[in-house]
Amino acid sequence: MTSLIGLGYLISTFSFLIGLKFMSSPKNAAKGNTIAAIGMILAVLVTIFTAFYENVPTINLIITGTAILAGTLLGKNISDKVEMTKMPQLISFFNATGGGCALILGLVEGSSLDISTGIVLKIVLVIGLLTGAIAFTGSILAYGKLAGKIKDIRTKSLVYTGRSILGLILLLPILYFLDFLPIEFSTLLYLMGGISLIYGILFVLPIGGADMPVVISLLNSITGVATAFAGFVYVNKVMIAGGIFVGAAGLLLTVLMCKAMNRSLLKVLAGTFKKGKNSVSESEQIIKTISTSETAMQLSYAKRVAIIPGYGLAVAQAQHICSQLQQLLERRDTEVHYIIHPVAGRMPGHMNVLLAEANIDYAVLKEMDEVNDHMDLYDMVLVIGANDVVNPAAENDEDSPVYGMPIIKAYKSQQVVVMKRGMSKGYAGVKNDLFDLNNCSLLFGDAKDSLQQIINQLKLV
Ligand code: TAP
Repeated sequence: MTSLIGLGYLISTFSFLIGLKFMSSPKNAAKGNTIAAIGMILAVLVTIFTAFYENVPTINLIITGTAILAGTLLGKNISDKVEMTKMPQLISFFNATGGGCALILGLVEGSSLDISTGIVLKIVLVIGLLTGAIAFTGSILAYGKLAGKIKDIRTKSLVYTGRSILGLILLLPILYFLDFLPIEFSTLLYLMGGISLIYGILFVLPIGGADMPVVISLLNSITGVATAFAGFVYVNKVMIAGGIFVGAAGLLLTVLMCKAMNRSLLKVLAGTFKKGKNSVSESEQIIKTISTSETAMQLSYAKRVAIIPGYGLAVAQAQHICSQLQQLLERRDTEVHYIIHPVAGRMPGHMNVLLAEANIDYAVLKEMDEVNDHMDLYDMVLVIGANDVVNPAAENDEDSPVYGMPIIKAYKSQQVVVMKRGMSKGYAGVKNDLFDLNNCSLLFGDAKDSLQQIINQLKLV
């Protein structure tokens, strides 16, 4: 029977690995998600089966079953309702539940240890509990910030001091294990649990702006570590493997996002991101506007067109209409590419998910590095609801908060039309120098409405 259980866990672990592998390409990502989800269902079923096999008290099974049922219904309900643009906060909320679980497991298991428990298990318990508690409060705070319920703080020095002091206190278990701290192990766990909860808040409090997704990814990774340590406590191989995968994937994503935004992780954690004011007056910039009919006319002459989607495309839900424009242009023998920036939108892969919803062929999606050196070959670039990711200030203005962030060099193309509703700034809150350039025009209006009008007029040309 034990080998059957081991086999079930092994299959689950492999399905996580295959799922992760599939997720590395947008084309197979949905399939990867399904494979990993099936693996997770199998892991839960094998765990329930193990509980029956090991004669776990019926009351425990009833509690576990009820919790799984409640969690499944609640999770399905929330996921069904959530808009794509609110996905990062949902991920953060789910991550908080993972961290909270690791905290509770640590407290429950740590309080019921007998005197003969070895030091290794105790260390594992403490690390799992610390990381779980930090991920719990940190993720709840990140959720609040992303949902706009908690504002970024201005005075950060007090937080830094508190964070440093608590960071040192988190090393207390070392004194305990060296026999310098004469307290019960369970007391140590409650003490460290409480301090870690506060540390989680101070960890995320100074961070804000475009750095939030990086922090969420890091917290995700921390929850993975907490889960892996909990797996060691229960000697549960699939929990250890799953935790390690989440920990490693979260860390890699953190590093990749920092790279895409040209931010060092240390600067992110120090909360040095400064947001500017939310909108820019037209007098601050010399802009040219363009109408939908003029845009349609220019598109009718273009032989190569690039579409740069951004957060506004998601807000307008304009992906389907955008695909219609692409098809119309292609029928007129115009080559159309979509250029995707790694941090366009509000979560990793946001644009890929949107475009996949509209069944846009992956062959026409281009990474910015593929095309940046040849942008002058595009007769026309349509920037649809993107802002920061095409801002030349990232290359030219050393004082700009976005300076150093790799951008799509839309400014190099023959003609740029930026679709947006007004003069609001992007997420980074900085003026966009692209709008001042001679080859750039602004088409004001909701992206979906503008695209519809362009299509109507293009059909007449
Ligand atoms: P942003 O710079 O945020 O710009 C979005 C633009 O869309 C704004 O200019 C806005 O202007 C316009 N817009 C909003 N609703 C619209 C609508 N219905 N129709 C037409 N336009 C609309 O977006 P981006 O270029 O995609 O850059 C992403 C930013 O978010 C970066 O700074 C990035 O660092 C940050 N960020 C990224 C992530 C990830 S991992 N992707 C996560 C969090 C933050 P109007 O309001 O004037 O229309």
